[in-house]
Amino acid sequence: MHKRICIFGAGYIGLTTAACLAELGHEVTCVDINSERVESLLAGHVPIHEPLLTELVVGNIGRGRLHFTTDARSAIEYVELVFVCVPTPQAHDGSADLRAVFDVIDVIADHIARGAIVVTKSTVPAGTGHALLCRLLHYGRNDVGVVSNPEFLREGSAVADFMQPDRIVIGADVGAWVKPVASLFESIDAPVIVTDVVTAELSKHASNAFLATKLTFANSLAHLCETVGGDASALFAVLGADPRIGDRFLRPGPGWGGSCLPKDTRALAHFARSVAAPLVQLECTIESNDAHFDHVVARLSEHFGGSLRFVRIAALGLAFKSGTDDIRESPSIEVIARLVRHGATVTVHDPLARPVGDALNGAHFSEVLDDAIAAADVLLVLTEWPEYAELDPHTIRTVSAARLVYDTRGIIDAHGWCDAGFTVLQVGRPALDFGDRTAHSTAA
Ligand code: UGA
Repeated sequence: MHKRICIFGAGYIGLTTAACLAELGHEVTCVDINSERVESLLAGHVPIHEPLLTELVVGNIGRGRLHFTTDARSAIEYVELVFVCVPTPQAHDGSADLRAVFDVIDVIADHIARGAIVVTKSTVPAGTGHALLCRLLHYGRNDVGVVSNPEFLREGSAVADFMQPDRIVIGADVGAWVKPVASLFESIDAPVIVTDVVTAELSKHASNAFLATKLTFANSLAHLCETVGGDASALFAVLGADPRIGDRFLRPGPGWGGSCLPKDTRALAHFARSVAAPLVQLECTIESNDAHFDHVVARLSEHFGGSLRFVRIAALGLAFKSGTDDIRESPSIEVIARLVRHGATVTVHDPLARPVGDALNGAHFSEVLDDAIAAADVLLVLTEWPEYAELDPHTIRTVSAARLVYDTRGIIDAHGWCDAGFTVLQVGRPALDFGDRTAHSTAA
């Protein structure tokens, strides 16, 4: 049965949830405090780069099932379900800043319909649902439920992840609150895991923390391979073939980042310590990721005799992964900042993402890939964009003085580049030197 839903927050999670629930036939009003964003969405302009999202937004506005407004009070009239999808950024002490979540409760408490349910999709620490219930009680609202429904979608495949999720998690402490939420997703074919609110809240932080830990382990093993002459891609093929380990999220890189993994791992580590149940291994994971950024730069510096002063580097990729224009906590920014600190002259390129604020830490940005490459001594691949995998080393030799390529994403054909006269550094492999390669081919 189709329902009337109100969604607070028109960011990645809120907008995708709104568009997808409207697509499933529900009548959705999405509320955001940013009037410019609302105006732009009403005109059918989606402010983020996400496949299929614009089509869903425009199509469902047209069908009259999707509305955008800044007027929270009118939006929640007669609504059975209110989704909270507002940001929970990191506070100064590493904890999650929940002010936007509580602001929603403060705005709706006097107006929300009797019997309605507040559903949290924002990533929040365990115990938040209980705190929200208490806040509602403070306003005399003992007739409103609170359910946790964490979202596991990834940027770049948000719509597909929402529509075909691995699982749907519904955390409710009152049995009667489960069905209204579960019924929203009836037409989605995915296992539904019903649990209590605290466990549902933990499940989101724990998933991201597990993924971060897996990636850090992969990056540390890649470092070990570089040092002792192993091949990380073959190593991970062996590990990944064991279904207990699984082959996903084992691709080594420059370090992990993005809008969620760093903030959520820090929030969980902070939370666990604050309740005297520290996740020591997670704290090591976070430290180790930072050390990996240092290692990526140290390896390049070693190649130049220990100093990057005046070395001209084309840093290829600013987005935290390919398929998105999001640069929040991008590993590229971490690496670029370190290169600049070491005295390198860095020109950054990205096919989609653009620098915001002081993201480049003094590096330059070039919208033209050829220009960035032409002026470089080193090509440093930081994001796995297909256009970087397709670069032709023979052409580059004719237009650039660069004879070193450092591929932190493992996307280029190392032997092809080596044969074209480049020294190739790849994460998880020992250096492949042009000289070594010719000596090797001659011997063979
Ligand atoms: C992540 C989780 O994957 C989602 O399940 C979760 O819902 C989301 O955070 C969230 O909390 O909202 P996302 O931030 O879109 O999704 O990015 P990922 O695809 O997880 O990538 C995170 C980082 O790990 C990126 O820097 C990426 O380049 C890196 N990564 C990923 C690797 O270095 N190697 C891999 O094999 C996979």
